[in-house]
Amino acid sequence: MLHFPENFLFGSSTSHFQVEGIDLEFQRNLSDWSIWTKQNNKIKDSTSPYPGSAFSLAYAQDIELAYKLNLKAFRFSLNWAYLCPNPPDNLSLAPKLNPEAVDFYKNIFRLLKQYGLTNFVTLFHFTLPSYLANIGGWTNELTVTQFALFAKLVGETFKDEIDYIITINEPMVYVYHSFISGNWPPGLTNDYYMAFRAMKNLLKGHGLAYHNLKSIRPFDISLSKHWRLFKPYNQFNPLDHYVCGLRDEVFNKGFMNALKSGHLSFPREICFDRNIANLQGYIPNIENTLDYLGINFYTQDTCQYSLANPYNIFGDIVLKKNTKTNCLGWQLAPEALYQILTTEIKPYLKLKNNQTVPVYITENGYPENHTADNDSGDWSLTDHNRCEYILSHLKVVHEAIKTGVDIRSYLYWSLIDNFEWDLGLTPRFGLIRINYANQIRDLRLSARLLGEIAQKRCIESHLLNKPLILPGTILQSKFS
Ligand code: BGC
Repeated sequence: MLHFPENFLFGSSTSHFQVEGIDLEFQRNLSDWSIWTKQNNKIKDSTSPYPGSAFSLAYAQDIELAYKLNLKAFRFSLNWAYLCPNPPDNLSLAPKLNPEAVDFYKNIFRLLKQYGLTNFVTLFHFTLPSYLANIGGWTNELTVTQFALFAKLVGETFKDEIDYIITINEPMVYVYHSFISGNWPPGLTNDYYMAFRAMKNLLKGHGLAYHNLKSIRPFDISLSKHWRLFKPYNQFNPLDHYVCGLRDEVFNKGFMNALKSGHLSFPREICFDRNIANLQGYIPNIENTLDYLGINFYTQDTCQYSLANPYNIFGDIVLKKNTKTNCLGWQLAPEALYQILTTEIKPYLKLKNNQTVPVYITENGYPENHTADNDSGDWSLTDHNRCEYILSHLKVVHEAIKTGVDIRSYLYWSLIDNFEWDLGLTPRFGLIRINYANQIRDLRLSARLLGEIAQKRCIESHLLNKPLILPGTILQSKFS
C-alpha cells in the first residue's frame, strides 16, 4: 500500500482552448488559434476545436464528474481573448472585460467551490487575443504590458474565488512550437532570435503579473514548467552528453535560472548571434516570484550529436531500438520524473531566505489515437496503457515524497479528451472520453482508477498487481 500525505491533492488539468469551444471566439476570430485552426494544413487531422469537447456548454456536468471521481483539484485556464475581446484604445491601458465571459468563469468557480474542488487557474495557456498576435505577440513588449494588466483584472475580478495561480504554461514549449518548429502561430521556423526575445518577454510578463496580483491579495502564484530529462544516445560518447547539457540548459534550466538570479543568460553557442547575446542581462521584478513550483512531466528525450547541426539546441527526437513510447513517439520513462523531482529541480526550490517552496505536479498524461468520428462501441474505454502510465508515475511521486520532497499534487492531463493543438482531436488524453459526434461523456477505466486512488489517498496493493481489475460498470452521461 502506498499512502499519500493528508494535504496531497489528486486532480485533473485542462486548458481553455483545448476544451471550451467558445462560439464567440470562433465566429469573431478573437484569438490567434481561432484563426490558425481555420487555415489549410495547420491541423494534422483537419479537425476543429469548435465545438470540440464543448466544455463551455457542458462544464457543469464535467465538474460534477470530476467531483464524483473524488478528485479534489481542478486546473483550467482563462480564455484571454474571450475575456478581453476588444483592444483598449491604447495598448498601454487595460482592456474591458467581457461580462459574458466573466459570468462563465464565475459559474465555474461557483461549481468548483460547491463540490469542494481546489482550483488552479492558468492565465496564459498558449493562445493570444488576435489584436496582440497581430503586433507580434510575445515578441512585442506591449504584450507584456497587456498581460500584466490582464493579470490585474483577473486578480480583481476573481479575488475571492482563485486558489492557485499559474501565470504561464510551459514557456519553452510555447517558444519552441511558435518560433522554431513553426507548428503553432505565428508559425515561424528556426527563428532563434524571435524565440529568445519571446522567452525574455514571457519572463517579464510573469514578473509583472506576479507583482500586480500580489498587490491585490497574497495569492499563491507559480508557473507550470514542462521538464524533461535529456539522455545521451551513446552514454560513452562525450558529444552526445554535450547535446544533452545544451538542451537541458536551454529547455529546462534557462527560464528557471533567470527566475532564480534575476538575470537572463544563454549558453555560449547561442551567443554567436549578437542580437541574441544582447537579450541577456538583468530583468527587473522576476526574482523570488515563485510561491511553489508547478511541474508538467510527460517524457524524456534521447539526444545524439549531429555534425550537420552541432548546435541544434532544441534537438531532434532520436529513439533507441526497442524504446517504449506512446502513440506520439514520446518515451515512457517514469524514472525520469523521479530524477527530476528528487534532483533536477532541487536548486530551484530553495529561496534566498532559505525557505523551500513546495512542488505541485500540474500535468502528467497519456495519449492514445482515436479519430474524432468514432461514435459507438467500446473503442477506447478500457485504457490499460493509460492506467499503467498513471500508476507508474504515481509510484515514483510517492517514492520522491518518501525521500523528503514536498510534493502536493498530481493533476492528470486531461480530465476530458482535448484538442491537441496542431495534432487536432485524434490524440486522446482524457480520463473521460468525449464522443465528438454527440458529446456523450464516458468514464474510462483510468478515470475509475484515479478516482479510487484519490478517494483512499493511497494505491492499494491490488492495484499494483496485474492485470488491472476494477469493480463496477462504466458510467455514461450525456449533457443536454
Ligand atoms: C500542454 C498541453 C498539452 C499537453 C499534452 C502540455 O505540453 O500544457 O496543452 O495538451 O502537454 O501534449
